Amino acid sequence: MAPWPIVAGSASRRLARELAEEIQAPLAEVEIKDFPDGEVYVRIASELAGRDVVVLNTTYPNARLVELMLLQAGARNGGAGRIVTVAPYYAYSRQDMAFKPGEVVSAEVLARHFSLDSDAFATVDPHKEHILKFMKGARSVSAVPEIAERLRLDGVDLVLAPDKGARDRAEAAAHALGVPHDHLEKTRISGTEVRMAPKELRVEGKVVAIIDDIISTGGTIATAAGELKRMGARRVIAACTHGLFLSGAIERMKAGGVDHVLATDTIESAASEVSAAKAVARALR
Ligand code: R5P
Repeated sequence: MAPWPIVAGSASRRLARELAEEIQAPLAEVEIKDFPDGEVYVRIASELAGRDVVVLNTTYPNARLVELMLLQAGARNGGAGRIVTVAPYYAYSRQDMAFKPGEVVSAEVLARHFSLDSDAFATVDPHKEHILKFMKGARSVSAVPEIAERLRLDGVDLVLAPDKGARDRAEAAAHALGVPHDHLEKTRISGTEVRMAPKELRVEGKVVAIIDDIISTGGTIATAAGELKRMGARRVIAACTHGLFLSGAIERMKAGGVDHVLATDTIESAASEVSAAKAVARALR
């Protein structure tokens, strides 16, 4: 079977190169331009007629989400066979249900659009697994094994989840590293003050990794790191799959006591020390 060409968008060029190497697939020739008003121009120069393809682009910021949809349509218009869409970061996934009447479930709306010119869909570490039910042929894969491999180099002694709901991810990383795990519990001290501490484990003298799916403003991790340092943690490492790193997030976390910030390349940044290519390849296989 001929390898499936990868039609990659501008937000996932690095990941596309790594993935192409990993699965031994060619990269399709794609021209992408941003107009001054922020609109996106897409042209697929490679011949795709009759070929099954992977269309890959992360969906942050909003223009890249539109770009992914244009690439899907371009592959369809170009006569591609099966189209597998890979959105390494699934934007708008934190609104995964209607918490209040009238709220629009953005994760579901995106799923509807992702499905238009696509036969199957894959993403990495979605915020909530149940959003995959919004689409036929959707699957997710975790980059936690790759993150854990990188954490091993830091000599991590224990892994913490930022809250109880995120414990599975911390458990998986801890299991891969052969170290204990726990989650952070929040206690409200006053209207403005919140304390965070591991539920059971002690951190004195330890190298502690906090692992989250998304780091956005870095506020959660900065608060946690400050508390952990006050409790005597030797080093605090912040790890995530999707590093949005908004408005000074890395500086905020470092000021809070984080010694090292690392993320995957589902959103490409200077902190993308871990490639999600192996994880995406697992999903495609
Ligand atoms: C929340 O639901 C996510 O899993 C992350 O914990 C959250 O996005 C982190 O936000 P921030 O970095 O702004 O504290």
